[in-house]
Amino acid sequence: MTKHIGILTAGGDSPGLNAAIRGVGKAAQSSYDMRIIGFRDGFRGLMENRTVSLKGDVLSGILTIGGTILGTSRDKPHKMKVGGKVLDMTDSIVENYEANHLDALICIGGGGTQKNALQLMQKGLNVITMPKTIDNDVALTDTTFGFDTALGIATESIDRLHSTAHSHHRIIVVEVMGHRAGWLALGSGIAGGADVILLPEIPYQLEAVAEAITQRVKYGSQFSIVAVAEGAMSTDEASVVRGLEQRIADTEAAGDKKARKQAKQELRTHESSRSEHTLLLARQLEKLTGLESRPSILGHLQRGGTPSAADRLLATRLGTACAGFINDGVSGVMVAAHGNNAVPVPLEEVAGKQKLVPADHPWIESARRVGVSLGD
Ligand code: F6P
Repeated sequence: MTKHIGILTAGGDSPGLNAAIRGVGKAAQSSYDMRIIGFRDGFRGLMENRTVSLKGDVLSGILTIGGTILGTSRDKPHKMKVGGKVLDMTDSIVENYEANHLDALICIGGGGTQKNALQLMQKGLNVITMPKTIDNDVALTDTTFGFDTALGIATESIDRLHSTAHSHHRIIVVEVMGHRAGWLALGSGIAGGADVILLPEIPYQLEAVAEAITQRVKYGSQFSIVAVAEGAMSTDEASVVRGLEQRIADTEAAGDKKARKQAKQELRTHESSRSEHTLLLARQLEKLTGLESRPSILGHLQRGGTPSAADRLLATRLGTACAGFINDGVSGVMVAAHGNNAVPVPLEEVAGKQKLVPADHPWIESARRVGVSLGD
């Protein structure tokens, strides 16, 4: 019997999404004779039943295009803004899944999407996911599509910042995306030859960063590149954040809803004050080293444009494998990259976990061995 499948892209966009949609759609239709429809703008489109046909030549010519032809959003099924209120819209999603006679729903997304997919699975839907994000922080997969492209963009940016930093004898503090993970800053920092790399996983001491730059001046380098992950924190800030996280965990364990809400609010307030972090760091380093300093925030440039060859290949591998798993009746899994294989990993094992840079990761060791300061 012909299988009907739906597909959506959720969370921040990421290069390689269209390659994945194409991979799964072409394999589903040509190898397995399935019918596939897309839902616009992530879980919101599924809730509103806004569909798009993926028949015929819709999937042609999209391999190299950035973003997602389906659109995306950060909406969550159980917490969606509707008519000015935040509501649990899971039931509408289940209704639309049934109304479209779906045998499976593919959700392409990052860490948040794995959690949302698990909840839908627990409501009885056959869900299967694929890991994408430029942050590379999804658990139990070697990598995520989007990461390699963003790594290339951030590395090229650091290359370009070198010549201007060098010419003006300046410090350039370049902020790299990555949410709470340091993969992108670490990878591009090493590949781009940054002198200092600051990661969320290794809280830094301002004085140690300034000292590393001053040492470079002593040995004749009048400029420095500091690659800072957007989630990087000083040791002082990290202890504030850890204290708040502990309070959230303790109040949750004690069932004290009011105190938990208060601690969560304090953490949110703290996080929103972080937008100035890179600017402040540049100013502090200027003061401590006497070198002129400039911040440079790469921002969404890192997520835009055509995917790299590696991301096109990864997305196509996972997408085509995903169609095969659906054909075999597999669901409740994320299609993970393990070496050259695409492996189904249970959503229960992935959801709620984050892959951070471990302190003993080989990239950390390599960075230290080429003389990069990690600010610790
Ligand atoms: O998860 C991808 C990412 O680009 C993070 O690196 C960043 O913190 C976040 O999304 C930015 O989100 P938005 O595009 O919603 O501002």
